Amino acid sequence: MKDIIQQLADKRAAAKLGGGQRRIDSQHAKGKLTARERIELLLDPGSFEEWDMFKEHRCTDFGMAEQKVPGDGVVIGYGTINGRLVFVFSQDFTVFGGSLSEAHAEKICKIMDQAMKVGAPVIGLNDSGGARIQEGVASLGGYAEVFQRNVMASGVIPQISLIMGPCAGGAVYSPAMTDFIFMVKDTSYMFVTGPDVVKTVTHEVVTAEDLGGAVTHTSRSGVADLALENDLEALLNTRRFFSFLPANNREKPPHRPTDDPASRIIPSLDSLVPEDATKPYDIKELIVKVADEGDFFELQPDYAQNIVIGFIRLEGHSVGVVANQPMVLAGCLDIDSSRKGGRFVRFCDAFNIPILTLVDVPGFMPGTAQEYGGIIKQGAKLLYAYAEATVPKVTLITRKAYGGAYDVMSSKHLRGDVNFAWPSAEIAVMGSKGAVEIIFRKDIGDADKIQQRTDQYQEKFANPFIASNRGYVDDVVTPRSTRVRICRSFAMLRDKELENPWRKHGNIPL
Ligand code: HXC
Repeated sequence: MKDIIQQLADKRAAAKLGGGQRRIDSQHAKGKLTARERIELLLDPGSFEEWDMFKEHRCTDFGMAEQKVPGDGVVIGYGTINGRLVFVFSQDFTVFGGSLSEAHAEKICKIMDQAMKVGAPVIGLNDSGGARIQEGVASLGGYAEVFQRNVMASGVIPQISLIMGPCAGGAVYSPAMTDFIFMVKDTSYMFVTGPDVVKTVTHEVVTAEDLGGAVTHTSRSGVADLALENDLEALLNTRRFFSFLPANNREKPPHRPTDDPASRIIPSLDSLVPEDATKPYDIKELIVKVADEGDFFELQPDYAQNIVIGFIRLEGHSVGVVANQPMVLAGCLDIDSSRKGGRFVRFCDAFNIPILTLVDVPGFMPGTAQEYGGIIKQGAKLLYAYAEATVPKVTLITRKAYGGAYDVMSSKHLRGDVNFAWPSAEIAVMGSKGAVEIIFRKDIGDADKIQQRTDQYQEKFANPFIASNRGYVDDVVTPRSTRVRICRSFAMLRDKELENPWRKHGNIPL
């Protein structure tokens, strides 16, 4: 028995070395941690239970029968983050470049299947050269098995992808179907075809970093949600992020006790909106001031900055925030911001996370680029997402709520549960000047008359009272009392029940 136990210890030690010390050193030299080091930092100390440490590939071609590494390039198992269960796979670049063999895919599928059975999230740490070239179609089949599970798990358990090395070719589509993607700057990249193929096909010369690095995907493409400086920062942020999410779609989000009272009055909010309605202000100031302890986990901060999304807590409960940002493009809705907001609303709705919407929107962005890019269908994504959502929805109009954008931004008509406005709110079909120039077109040559009509229109519509007369706004609240009123509303909504009619699935304008 003693011998066997020693053999087991030796086998474990060998498996833990992955592709060997030389390759581990090379991984470190690139500024990357190993697959196991990453898991240690991600999970609570000592909580990791590893499975399939000794699993090997079954390939015999190209001399592979003699090259077997226990674990086959991916470490899988489960553990806890702040005591809450999570399943993890972590690709080991030191073993065949973390490439995905049939056996490697089976390991990933194993924890995905188990996570679905017990209702716990999956976090994937991706660092892989893609399909195991020696295995050919067996590897492609393995990818598709993972893809299928990503889709079945979508909306059932949260799935988070960390990209911590290469992720190229069809391999990108597994992270793409997970809920959130965090990338590490300088050491990770994602693209469907790499720089060499791009050069051959389109004659563009581009580096891997420019084509698919963390900055590209968090500022230009919107594929990723966060760009982190290094592995450590990525893993620690994932731990923090995890604390906002429920374990599955049947659970409420976790509650974290707080000392921040719901009754906290915030006098400084009274002067947040400038006197001059054309002047911008930073909506993030409102979010941070309203949130418990000023804690706001923003997602996609560098992409489509005209809309702000992320998580806060109110009275300890997770809340998803969607807010127009007057600092960027005056907060108007365009293609990118509609997609960004729409996907986030759907995530919150799928996982029972209430939504707070902060509205200051002058409308949809005009222009050929927007129309040719399909703003009609793209903007409809956000509208559809809000209209479909059954979670508690609280909306606050701080200033402009014009036109179709008023309707879209979680209005009363889209089953907004509680809709507030500040006294500075202007709820109208469009801005006063534009409105007058249309309805009094014949007077356009007469500047005085136009000004007079504009003032009249402004006085009539540039306030929250017409909307509140109709009950489209439940109450006009003072800025300083915003946290109190919003907290009370969400508390009232805590046991809200609302179901959409049965259907196989809706047909969101994709
Ligand atoms: C088998 C691979 C591999 C792969 C890397 N390795 N990628 N082995 N299959 N796909 C091995 C290398 O042989 C090497 O082995 C070790 O991993 C490290 O690779 P290096 O090239 O030395 O590392 P680096 O210079 O950092 O370059 C990393 C890389 C490069 C950019 C990822 O390895 C690369 O271009 N690999 C091929 C990528 C690729 O074409 N994959 C298939 C894409 S198609 P040793 O023994 O020397 O350490 C695809 C389709 C998926 O993925 C479809 C899903 C539907």
